[in-house]
Amino acid sequence: MKLTVIGAGYVGLVQAAGLAHLGHEVMVYDINHRKLEALRKGISPIYEPGLPEMLEEGITQKRLFFTEQMKEAVLFSSLLFITVGTPAKITGEADLSAVMAVAHQIAHFAEGDKVIVLKSTVPVGTCEKVEQMMNEIAPTYTFQLVSNPEFLRQGSALSDFLSPDRIIIGIAHPEQIPLMEEVYRKVDSPILWMDRRSAEMTKYAANVFLATKISYINMVAELCEAYSADIEQVAHGMGTDRRIGPHFLKAGIGFGGSCFPKDAFALMHMANEVGVPVPMIEAMMLTNDRIPERVVHRLLSLMPIHAREITLLGLTFKAGTDDLRDSPALKVISSLSKYPYSLRAYDPMIKAGNPHPSLQSVTLISSLKEAIEGTEAILLLTEWKEFREADWESLRKWVSHPLLIDGRNCLDEEKMRKAGFDYVRIGKQPMLSLKPVRAPHGWKDGRRETPVSRQ
Ligand code: UDX
Repeated sequence: MKLTVIGAGYVGLVQAAGLAHLGHEVMVYDINHRKLEALRKGISPIYEPGLPEMLEEGITQKRLFFTEQMKEAVLFSSLLFITVGTPAKITGEADLSAVMAVAHQIAHFAEGDKVIVLKSTVPVGTCEKVEQMMNEIAPTYTFQLVSNPEFLRQGSALSDFLSPDRIIIGIAHPEQIPLMEEVYRKVDSPILWMDRRSAEMTKYAANVFLATKISYINMVAELCEAYSADIEQVAHGMGTDRRIGPHFLKAGIGFGGSCFPKDAFALMHMANEVGVPVPMIEAMMLTNDRIPERVVHRLLSLMPIHAREITLLGLTFKAGTDDLRDSPALKVISSLSKYPYSLRAYDPMIKAGNPHPSLQSVTLISSLKEAIEGTEAILLLTEWKEFREADWESLRKWVSHPLLIDGRNCLDEEKMRKAGFDYVRIGKQPMLSLKPVRAPHGWKDGRRETPVSRQ
């Protein structure tokens, strides 16, 4: 089939390259012409494992094209995917201006009926709204909207596209079924057909549930620290119950990324619009927001009194991506910046000179060894393979003080202890060889002395 994808971002690029890989002819439009020039050369503007190769394949096999002309993109196919961003407004509401602008242009340039597949994450009812607007602008033709939310995880987006657990398609007109079946014919996953509102709601409900599961395990991790239990053992004990499942039970530094926070705020906003109380979402966000500060306090309570050098390992919101959006590491940096420390950071995907405003108070180092040389405390914030596989025994001799807090519980506890580190995990009491000499008010030995006050 000939298909058009409007928006060459994290979702649109994976969708376009994936559809071309499935054998479709795909034309991609984006408002950013420099991005398109790079793409024509097979250079991917985002880091996503496997994407450059799949872009190359599509271009070489003449199944993947890029255009700066919206009209050309609109006329290329009668089935267009909208994959533009729907960022959170200050109110939390999803900003639909890009979606509406693209829909407007499609209606303007169309010279025939169109099926518009809305893949961007949009509030419930958006498909109906956009469909009505388009048919009012260009009554000569018929525009039918389909909801097809994505469930791609950055770092594994292509495999999530090619072998999803399920494909969710919300339709209002049954005649669209064979068309959408043809699009995904070569994907060996079940298609769940539903109405458009249910498809739009499924996306938010799934994402906010996943975020809630993570906040829940992080809440239990704090209880484990207070009760000297071990969150890894508790999570294993929970996850072996088929009703709970082992996934998304990894305690850590809190979730980040461009989706979970945005979708939680958007769902809260939708709830407020209709007067439905959603205290669970508020509690989930509050739980997530306090973790970076809590980990910083724990670090400070374990550091030597005159220590000044702190190294952060990892800045991106998770391994496998170059994305800093809403990364917990940025919250750690802003919390640490209140204290007189010199901060160094190393992340394999974030190069020195990165202009991100939140990184201005940190010296970006370009190698692991250099980043820990002479440091007095290490805080691991992203579970990069390079850190998990590093030879910590030989790295030990380069640090001045061997304190390492593993914000992702991703290093081997036994090996770290053997290597001579004071290794501290989330959700577990540290067994320290070096006595902590200073604690912020209310903290001792890496744990809160005074119970949390009821704000
Ligand atoms: C998420 C959803 O998984 C995906 O379906 C949706 O389409 C987009 O949003 P993504 O944000 O790319 O994908 O990454 P994900 O792997 O879900 O992780 C989100 C955050 O949760 C990351 O900060 C990650 O480190 C954190 N996380 C994840 C945990 O802290 N613990 C876990 O067990 C899993």
